[in-house]
Amino acid sequence: MSVVPSMEKTKESQASIQPLVELVKQDMGRVNELILEKAGSDVEMIPEVAKHLIDSGGKRLRPMLTLASANLCGYDSAKDGHIKLAMAVEFMHTATLLHDDVVDESDMRRGKLAARMLWGNQASVLVGDFLLGQAFRVMVDVGSIRALDVLSTAACVIAEGEVLQLSVAQNMKTSVEQYMQVIRSKTAALFASACEVGPILAGSDEASIVAMRNYGLELGNAFQLIDDALDYGGSAAELGKNVGDDFREGKITLPVILAYERGNADEKAFWKRVMEERKDVTDGALDFAMGLIDKSDALKDTLNQARAHGEAAIKALDIFEDGASKSALINAVEFCIARGH
Ligand code: IPE
Ligand code: IPE
Ligand code: MG
Ligand code: MG
Repeated sequence: MSVVPSMEKTKESQASIQPLVELVKQDMGRVNELILEKAGSDVEMIPEVAKHLIDSGGKRLRPMLTLASANLCGYDSAKDGHIKLAMAVEFMHTATLLHDDVVDESDMRRGKLAARMLWGNQASVLVGDFLLGQAFRVMVDVGSIRALDVLSTAACVIAEGEVLQLSVAQNMKTSVEQYMQVIRSKTAALFASACEVGPILAGSDEASIVAMRNYGLELGNAFQLIDDALDYGGSAAELGKNVGDDFREGKITLPVILAYERGNADEKAFWKRVMEERKDVTDGALDFAMGLIDKSDALKDTLNQARAHGEAAIKALDIFEDGASKSALINAVEFCIARGH
């Protein structure tokens, strides 16, 4: 179930990730081989924990974006720089998921118990560190200092975003601007970098590098806005993670900010009680919160914001010639907006 059922129906063909999957299929096979190889270690617990998460799949969206952006910019796919960077990008993402589930105290990930539920928080954090280290070794191996600069900056910015999120959590004074800064840092920065390294590897001009970065940044913003909407309006079965996690931990996302802004005195008091004082955070309260979010059009407007960022992502591709890579990237935007998982 998508939070945008009407869009899912009317734009079914455009909203598919399939063109992107098809475009990078062969390269992605090589990326997956490298992912498994680099998850290996003599310390048995490392591949055990890493493969639990890796084998559960995930959409592999970010590495596909790296491959497609290299392709769009004419990188020779007989080489292996794009394969290595795509693998590094997915490892950075996997590491943040291991860490994020500890920070968020989430139980489910990719349809299974989160690694921390099986091996504990300590193992999850440390295996995340291992994957991050492996990602950087592979980046160094590629030999592009500029790509290394872009991805290492992203690693810092993601951490900044997660810490900023922590510092504004459980505070109903959080502004839309602060929220946007959080999602730009924790999520969009990696999408942006995943896309930017494609033209960097291909030796493209500055305009192409900037355009791909903007495409990724706007797509990442849209992606997280939808993720935050799905936490109130999605289906756990399809998402492979629980809905209501953000509510239970007092994370202030756009649906909550808008519902609070538009609420009457009693409703504002409700939000403060559950999000700030952490009182009566029950399933009943979650249902009530969902009702307020729906009634105030907060979910609808979060989707509208996601759509606006999606449109900006597509606009960034204007400078590129039409073709299979460009249309797969456009379809990926539609998919991220209409997705239910
Ligand atoms: C989850 O990302 C983390 C967010 C930025 C919301 P994905 O939804 O891309 O996770 P997987 O890789 O498909 O599991
Ligand atoms: C995702 O934020 C950001 C990172 C993993 C860095 P969320 O906390 O919203 O992601 P989910 O919902 O747990 O996948
Ligand atoms: Mg989380
Ligand atoms: Mg989420």
